[in-house]
Amino acid sequence: MHSISKLSAICLATACLVAGDLLNDKKCRTLAVDVAIVGGGAGGAYAAVRLKEDYNKSIVLIEKEKELGGHVSGYIDENGVHWEYGVSQFNDYGPARAFFERLGVTPGVPVRYPLTPEFVDFKTGRPVNTSLPPAANVTAAFQKFLEVVAPFEDYFLPGFWNFPPPDQIPADLLLPFRKFVEKYEIQAAVYNAFQVTAFGAGDLDKALTLYVLTAFGPPMIRFFLGQATLFVPASRRNSEVYEKIQARLGDKVLYSSTVTKSERSASGHTLRVEESSKGGCTIVKASKLVLGIEPTEANLKPFGLDKREKEVVDKFNYQVVHVGIVSHPSLPAGKQLVNTPEAAAGGNYLELPKPNFIPRFDHMAPNSTNFRIMVISKEGTTVKDAQQLAQSSLNAMIKAGTLEPAAKKEKLTFKVWSNHGNMHAHVSADDLRKGFIQKLNGLQGYRGTWWTGGAFSGQLQAILWAFDDILLSKMYP
Ligand SMILES: Cc1cc2nc3c(=O)[nH]c(=O)nc-3n(C[C@H](O)[C@H](O)[C@H](O)COP(=O)(O)OP(=O)(O)OC[C@H]3O[C@@H](n4cnc5c(N)ncnc54)[C@H](O)[C@@H]3O)c2cc1C
Ligand SMILES: *[C@@H]1O[C@H](CO)[C@@H](O)[C@H](O)[C@H]1NC(C)=O
Ligand SMILES: *[C@@H]1O[C@H](CO)[C@@H](O)[C@H](O)[C@H]1NC(C)=O
Ligand SMILES: *[C@@H]1O[C@H](CO)[C@@H](O)[C@H](O)[C@H]1NC(C)=O
Ligand SMILES: *[C@@H]1O[C@H](CO)[C@@H](O)[C@H](O)[C@H]1NC(C)=O
Repeated sequence: MHSISKLSAICLATACLVAGDLLNDKKCRTLAVDVAIVGGGAGGAYAAVRLKEDYNKSIVLIEKEKELGGHVSGYIDENGVHWEYGVSQFNDYGPARAFFERLGVTPGVPVRYPLTPEFVDFKTGRPVNTSLPPAANVTAAFQKFLEVVAPFEDYFLPGFWNFPPPDQIPADLLLPFRKFVEKYEIQAAVYNAFQVTAFGAGDLDKALTLYVLTAFGPPMIRFFLGQATLFVPASRRNSEVYEKIQARLGDKVLYSSTVTKSERSASGHTLRVEESSKGGCTIVKASKLVLGIEPTEANLKPFGLDKREKEVVDKFNYQVVHVGIVSHPSLPAGKQLVNTPEAAAGGNYLELPKPNFIPRFDHMAPNSTNFRIMVISKEGTTVKDAQQLAQSSLNAMIKAGTLEPAAKKEKLTFKVWSNHGNMHAHVSADDLRKGFIQKLNGLQGYRGTWWTGGAFSGQLQAILWAFDDILLSKMYP
């Protein structure tokens, strides 16, 4: 729809330009570079810095928003205090610490506001009688978890570069996560894994262990075992990382810009880039192309995928993630309301909410009335649907008497909201057995195009940076 309306707008403005003319439009400025990078999130922005500074390539980075950073989102509250409600911390993994140093970002220790968990079924609104497993059991379960997956770590971290051929994929990686947990009796690790990042994998009864591990893998397990750390900028502003990248890349970034039409080939690319607010256009000629955007149909439409490319990216399924900061007088200070199905009572840690769900309401600070929430949902979930789920969860807890009703019957206040869109790209065990990963890897370099981002590696900033290091070494061996 989007590209059709763009096309007709162009028809009106300049009499009708056919596709070829759009790439040879004299009113656009022209730019010739070694590498064009599309998407300035974790994968694209890091690749841009290294291509420019370490590979001495001329580059352009095309980013649809007004700033770089992708899932990093900051919010300044009523008291002028800055909060991160997107990416919260960086794993000390791969090149992350060295990259902070290169950028001149001083690392600091994340500060956590200790919250008391309260287990509530967000559907019925009723409290659930359960408790956290003893710390010793949690440690033992994480030890076992690591012992089982560490031998395969190289298959999916950072990225699937060394993934085994279909007939040699370890059966454990293709087990639905529930089965995997039951097999190794690591139930005591499930609560922490889920609450930190594994919820992103969606329904853990069905999600394959491989994809749980791309959301919550060895770097996070090692964190829980005290063998690895997490850090943030000492400024506590994660956007500092991307601001420093912006400063280094300067005018090599085209902001508020998207590719609307392209011609790609092994020998080079022509991209028509349109700037949304000022309406300017640039025709970019690039020898190589790096795509750092989620490989959804809508995102890839302007890139004219061929059959081989389409067959790969069309296989992906996604979760949609929303994040917001909310407030309401009924939400209890100092608490973390944890969405816990009634079936989880008595320590059934594998009984988890299923999409669409909100994992928790987390109070943000003693002097604040704000709570941070996320929504993990099926593809196509809109902001309205996601906010409605937050409201109905709160309503259920008030109705059941778990939360005090407010004096006035007001609704939740949404202070800020961010739809992170499609994430956690995954395919079925069947597709993996049919060689999906090999076909995915086969796209690297095909038609002069290279791919980065969560769908090709994993769901953490530091993993993407480590993935890019390998990608670049393959682009320019
Ligand atoms: C709420 C939340 C919390 C998270 N917390 C953490 C955390 O604490 N630690 C951690 O390591 N990871 C965290 N992650 C995960 C991590 O941020 C992602 O895995 C990572 O950002 C993925 O990087 P990416 O390059 O694939 O995509 P993104 O970072 O999303 O980058 C894509 C970029 O492309 C741009 N773009 C999209 N479409 C187009 C287009 N058509 N044309 C041009 N530009 C386009 C986007 O604006 C964006 O800047 C979190 C993610 C979310 C959603
Ligand atoms: C970087 O590339 C430019 C242009 O191709 C070239 O003139 C310069 O010598 C290169 N510098 C290094 C350090 O390779
Ligand atoms: C914790 O581990 C001990 C020893 O293995 C076991 O007896 C106990 O049942 C476990 N408790 C829970 C809640 O898992
Ligand atoms: C909660 O569960 C524990 C055991 O799991 C039990 O001893 C206790 O009575 C239960 N409390 C309520 C209020 O049901
Ligand atoms: C509120 O608490 C936060 C974190 O606990 C702190 O950074 C901030 O300065 C406090 N703000 C006020 C107005 O007291």
